[in-house]
Amino acid sequence: MILIKNNKGGVGKSLITYWLAKGISELGYKTLILTSDNQNNILSYAGFEGEYGVGLEAWLSKGIGELIHLSKNLDYIPLTEYKLKRNFEEKFKNLIKELKTKYDYIFVDGSPTLGGDKVFIKTASQIIIPTYLDEITTEGIVNILNVVDDIKKIKSIIPNRCGKSKIEKEIFLELKEISDNAGILLTEPIKQSSIITNLIAKHKSIWDSKAKPTEYIRAELLKVIEVIINGNE
Ligand SMILES: Nc1ncnc2c1ncn2[C@@H]1O[C@H](COP(=O)(O)OP(=O)(O)OP(=O)(O)O)[C@@H](O)[C@H]1O
Ligand SMILES: [Mg+2]
Repeated sequence: MILIKNNKGGVGKSLITYWLAKGISELGYKTLILTSDNQNNILSYAGFEGEYGVGLEAWLSKGIGELIHLSKNLDYIPLTEYKLKRNFEEKFKNLIKELKTKYDYIFVDGSPTLGGDKVFIKTASQIIIPTYLDEITTEGIVNILNVVDDIKKIKSIIPNRCGKSKIEKEIFLELKEISDNAGILLTEPIKQSSIITNLIAKHKSIWDSKAKPTEYIRAELLKVIEVIINGNE
């Protein structure tokens, strides 16, 4: 299970979860996304506009629930409302184990709001961290590195929504040192860009774009996908 995590809001967790999962599904792997965020933003990124029933909550309590087919090889389990039950950890772990028999890759869009954070971190075999290149978010990353039970789980840090300021360059270099020391893939910063805004508005993923200015994003994400595939047990 691959957890996309950052406690900071708006860094691109949902978007990058969708891009990575979509990319891996297009390589032919059966892929599932589940979310811990009842905004279900990924449905909008994927252009899904239908109705849906109870998702993760039902899967946890009954072992079956809503499953939305987004595209070839790519399914999604939504979250409508969920209050953590006492045995959430056991139920979540069992669910992931069961789903792993049906899917090659399971991505979790890890919102901190559900409060299941520790369980997600423990259950994840791989963790990807999208981030802003600012001081506060970087401190948050250092915090994540400290609370993760096994630092080897952290596979990649993806700076996103970046500009060209001097301070961002400095923070990038700081992150580079941390990542290199820990064996984590730090991608080139993804720019805050109107091409991305337009792709999102058209419900297209980064893999649908042929635009030259977004080529570096596909190249960087393919590196992340390669690391994920190599790290899959
Ligand atoms: N590189 C980018 N360029 C332009 N817009 C972007 C970029 N990355 C993300 N966005 C936009 O920024 C907003 C936040 O992205 P997203 O919803 O993926 O973040 P999040 O971390 O999941 O947020 P939340 O904490 O609310 O769940 C969205 O409107 C998304 O479309
Ligand atoms: Mg989100």
